[in-house]
Amino acid sequence: MLKRRRIIILKGDITDEVFIESIFEKYQFDSVIHLAAESHVDRSITSPLVFAKTNILGTMILLNAFRASWKDDWSDKLFYHVSTDEVYGTLGEEGLFTESTSYNPNSPYSASKASSDHFVRSYGETYRLPYVISNCSNNYGANQFPEKLIPLCINNIIENKKLPVYGDGKYTRDWLYVEDHADAIDLIFHKGKPKETYNIGGFNEWQNIDLIQLLCSQMDIKLGRSKGTSNQLISFVKNRPGHDLRYAIDASKIKNELGWEPSVTFEQGLSKTIDWYLENEIWMNHVVSGDYQTYYKKQYIK
Ligand code: DAU
Repeated sequence: MLKRRRIIILKGDITDEVFIESIFEKYQFDSVIHLAAESHVDRSITSPLVFAKTNILGTMILLNAFRASWKDDWSDKLFYHVSTDEVYGTLGEEGLFTESTSYNPNSPYSASKASSDHFVRSYGETYRLPYVISNCSNNYGANQFPEKLIPLCINNIIENKKLPVYGDGKYTRDWLYVEDHADAIDLIFHKGKPKETYNIGGFNEWQNIDLIQLLCSQMDIKLGRSKGTSNQLISFVKNRPGHDLRYAIDASKIKNELGWEPSVTFEQGLSKTIDWYLENEIWMNHVVSGDYQTYYKKQYIK
């Protein structure tokens, strides 16, 4: 246990009911910001049960522990569930996800997050537990595990390894710098209305292939390589099963009601992110050793 002034860091598993109940009993948390989840779509395709366990059961264990602490005395309490835009399924070439878009998840990961959103809402209706939910688009930034597209490509460019692009590379995501997501969470936690959902997005859609080319050109400059060097690493590979074509968020509700918008452009955010990975080689070397090698071989080499 690490103790810094009013912050206590306890390491545990949200599916460990005894542990979760004991800490809720001990600390009497009046609010919860729940971010803990299995989050990588490809891993959910190979191990769906792990996702059901952590994302659904884990969320229910937190909800039950929160409820047991307060015995339905809800004044000044809040359970904030941080979720994903993937619960809405996929968009075609037009349109945006709004807070009233129907849920239509396509992967075991998004189905597990959709289910956990439903449980949070159902506790709100059934037990009057005060909650708020946010559904965010793709994040990028420091400390992101290199299973996700951007850090995976940064690491592979550094190591001169192939950049695996699923399908034709025309799949589209709406990218948000992680610190802007953190600011949005802070704002929703303090100013959001109970029982509401807020969509969070970057107003920043990119087809994967264009994003990877931008990343390659920024990395060539930072690594002192000649223009076009990293582009040669691009390699089109077998598509992800059930791959959602396009995600794009209408974030006008959080913008209009709470005054939030992203603070950095994609080029600035990407540049800061690359710099972080270049300055934190030890971190990267540590996380890509061991288990990551097994995952990488299974996912990309077979
Ligand atoms: O939309 C929010 C979601 O964004 C979060 O809820 C998820 O936790 C997060 O993992 C992310 O999901 P994606 O599946 O969109 O992210 P990922 O970084 O895995 O992939 C981004 C896009 O790049 C997607 O279209 C798949 C593609 N891709 C990904 C990888 C890892 C590739 O083409 N090659 C790859 O090797």
